[in-house]
Amino acid sequence: MSEVESRAPKRLLITGGAGFIGGNFVHHWVAAHPNDRVVVLDALTYAGNRATIASLIDTQQIEFVHGDIADASLVSSLLASHAIDTVVHFAAESHVDRSIADPAAFIRTNVVGTLTLLSACRQAWQQQGVWREGVRFHHVSTDEVYGTLGPDDAAFTERTPYAPNSPYAASKAGSDHLVRAWIHTYGMPATISNCSNNYGPFHFPEKLIPLMIVNALHGKPLPVYGDGLQVRDWLFVEDHCRAIALMLESALAGETYNVGGRAEHVNIEIVKWVCQLLDTRFAADADLAQRFPDCPAAMGSSCASLITHVTDRPGHDRRYAIDPTKIATTLRFEPTESLPSGLARTVDWYLANEAWWRGVMDGSYRQWMQDQYQMT
Ligand code: NAD
Ligand code: TYD
Repeated sequence: MSEVESRAPKRLLITGGAGFIGGNFVHHWVAAHPNDRVVVLDALTYAGNRATIASLIDTQQIEFVHGDIADASLVSSLLASHAIDTVVHFAAESHVDRSIADPAAFIRTNVVGTLTLLSACRQAWQQQGVWREGVRFHHVSTDEVYGTLGPDDAAFTERTPYAPNSPYAASKAGSDHLVRAWIHTYGMPATISNCSNNYGPFHFPEKLIPLMIVNALHGKPLPVYGDGLQVRDWLFVEDHCRAIALMLESALAGETYNVGGRAEHVNIEIVKWVCQLLDTRFAADADLAQRFPDCPAAMGSSCASLITHVTDRPGHDRRYAIDPTKIATTLRFEPTESLPSGLARTVDWYLANEAWWRGVMDGSYRQWMQDQYQMT
């Protein structure tokens, strides 16, 4: 029996499309499929930015709806009025540290919001037990649902038991289990992907890599949790977008895929790499010292001098690693961006897009950073 099928999504509802991965995916999909109908539903929380997709909204290549995935009547009316055939579900509260400070928001959006979407899709797409031909729900999830690994443990496969450790991971595990239940109980044509840590353009500067870039440019401490020897597997965001597109077009309904970058590194190594890239860029371009005079590289020293080991995150997972065999063999997906080139592209993007990251660092961002790190 074939392990793939051929689908051609034409009318997409993309939740969380003003966020980091969702925004990159919207750009990716519209570039490849300019004639498709693309509707973005996003609540524009602190992590969502209209600016990320403004070029597509303003030229009417997509329709933007400012709203909540937990608003059942709004979701139902969008599914009906746009005759949506494919939902790509990115919307979530996504930051582990915030989930430790305020878990309730994560349950509301990640669990209740996903439930609302699933129920609305079932109502719109299933009649007398029969699902409309060609419809698909894709749920974007994380490798964090599998919990933590020891240094010599085998990487996560699609059969690894769930063992979420943070409130964020628990809420994503809950949402995955709802999608799984809709597949098994109602026969919903849905797929799930569990991906490793993404990085790249439009990443909100509370996450490790963009935070290090932005803090270094301001000459602020680079907070490394604990010993900095936690391992993450890094995937350039455009590769993740390609993987999701492949799943929408070729994956069989009911399947789950792990997606990774084949790039396991300890955090401290990533931070030092970012510092080195910034040092090199400042050495090559005198304008940067004018624009960012507080950066150590503007004064001829290294950004690495800002590295500061701080108290570890409570319950911090030590290692994540993805076994990507299934998606590599069935859908022929391989990441194309190496970590060195992807990190260089990311640093260059932040240097070239100062207006974007300054725009997202509003009062609530500054308050959060101050509370989190006791720094301004
Ligand atoms: P993000 O925080 O950058 O973006 C989330 C988006 O969802 C924002 O635009 C926000 O406004 C929107 N949103 C939040 N609550 C909403 C609600 N109730 N209704 C409508 N919109 C709402 O997150 P991201 O990093 O782009 O992650 C996207 C998805 O990918 C998430 O489901 C996350 O769990 C998953 N994921 C992320 C990573 C990663 O490394 N960032 C890795 C694997 C999986
Ligand atoms: P993060 O980007 O928050 O992603 P996740 O927790 O989902 O993996 O963090 C990546 C790693 O970097 C994680 O091990 C925590 C660590 N980290 C720091 O050391 N300092 C920081 O300031 C942040 C935000 C993260």
